[in-house]
Amino acid sequence: MTAPRVVLGVSGGIAAYKACELLRRFTESGHQVQVVPTAAALHFVGEATWAALSGRPAATETWERVHEVPHVRIGQQADLVVVAPATADLLAKAAHGLADDLLTNTLLTARCPVVFAPAMHTEMWEHPATQENVATLRRRGAIVIEPAVGRLTGVDTGKGRLPDPAEIFAACRRVLARGSLTQDLAGRHVVVSAGGTREPLDPVRFLGNRSSGKQGYALAATAAARGARVTLVAANTALPDPAGVDVVRVGTALQLRDAVLKAAAEADAVVMAAAVADFRPAEYATGKIKKVDGVEPAPIVLVRNPDILAEISADRARPGQLVVGFAAETDDVLANGRAKLARKGCDLLVVNEVGDGKAFGQDTNSAVLLGADGSEVHIADGPKEVLADAIWDQVAARPADPADRSAG
Ligand code: CTP
Repeated sequence: MTAPRVVLGVSGGIAAYKACELLRRFTESGHQVQVVPTAAALHFVGEATWAALSGRPAATETWERVHEVPHVRIGQQADLVVVAPATADLLAKAAHGLADDLLTNTLLTARCPVVFAPAMHTEMWEHPATQENVATLRRRGAIVIEPAVGRLTGVDTGKGRLPDPAEIFAACRRVLARGSLTQDLAGRHVVVSAGGTREPLDPVRFLGNRSSGKQGYALAATAAARGARVTLVAANTALPDPAGVDVVRVGTALQLRDAVLKAAAEADAVVMAAAVADFRPAEYATGKIKKVDGVEPAPIVLVRNPDILAEISADRARPGQLVVGFAAETDDVLANGRAKLARKGCDLLVVNEVGDGKAFGQDTNSAVLLGADGSEVHIADGPKEVLADAIWDQVAARPADPADRSAG
């Protein structure tokens, strides 16, 4: 298989330095990258950096190597064009079809998917001119990632930060895998739980698990990219908030239950990707448990935590609400998965094989999606966003209005 050809357009904003990390992610995962910085971008990061990181000269001039017709060829040959950062000026030029430099020419000649990752001050992002330009680009099929909220250049904070390079990379990888992104979850509210709960024994110790939260975060980010309103209930994760997602942070299984039930009251779908502790210590020591020489440690007595997935499946907050569970299995993966699907009463169970370095903390995942309707979809090992998209495909395929579903 030939390496996917990516054009990385960089326009002139301070966030240009973050595009270096994006570039590394592409090259290290086998993509062939042609960097096309604008003249303004070169004020922030020089040509030598782009050349060294991409392994080829940056394309900066329409008037260089004219016999190779670079203003047409670069765009025509690309499998994906991503512009990061995309300034307000660049978005305006792209929306109006201006072509006064190599990057804007490339945007006009590209017939592949185009992703824009905007970065600018909040005022510029919120200005009706920018918003209309973004709407125009989206209407024409371009993917414009929502900017993140946080510290901007200088002392101010707000919406307009370049999304995390890992997030831009994940979005690009999805676009390369799927060809385009649709807004097929627009108008739906989805709740995703992620991470692993921690059940405290005393102020410094807890019972926990190895969940990194990556699969749940991939679910939240992909649902937001497909137009859903997303509430992410995150238990003990160290991942950056996905752009455009409401994040509720929790620690224990009981806290996660409260947050999920609250959010689920208005949700069309709930996906329980969190690794929830089945048990918690019966007692919590308010002071640190000390060792005492010559005295055996007291056994830890555990009590059951509520099964949140079974609870929301049995008592749907809204008619027709869709509930998706996960199962981590080491043996008899399919048989155990089918039994768990029946026991939990959810609509869809994502069965992962775990152990021996599989799934936990990794960037890839394979799974079988078992439907209560008897369906069985196998997803080959691949990026967690690809599995996330396959799960949302199943959700999107079921009508948002339960009346339509029972009629169909
Ligand atoms: N889950 C939950 N509440 C719990 C335990 C698990 O909502 N107290 C959810 C998880 O979020 C996941 C699914 O149930 O979606 C499967 O969890 P798992 O631990 O694999 O299943 P168990 O029911 O605990 O079965 P077993 O321990 O027998 O594997």
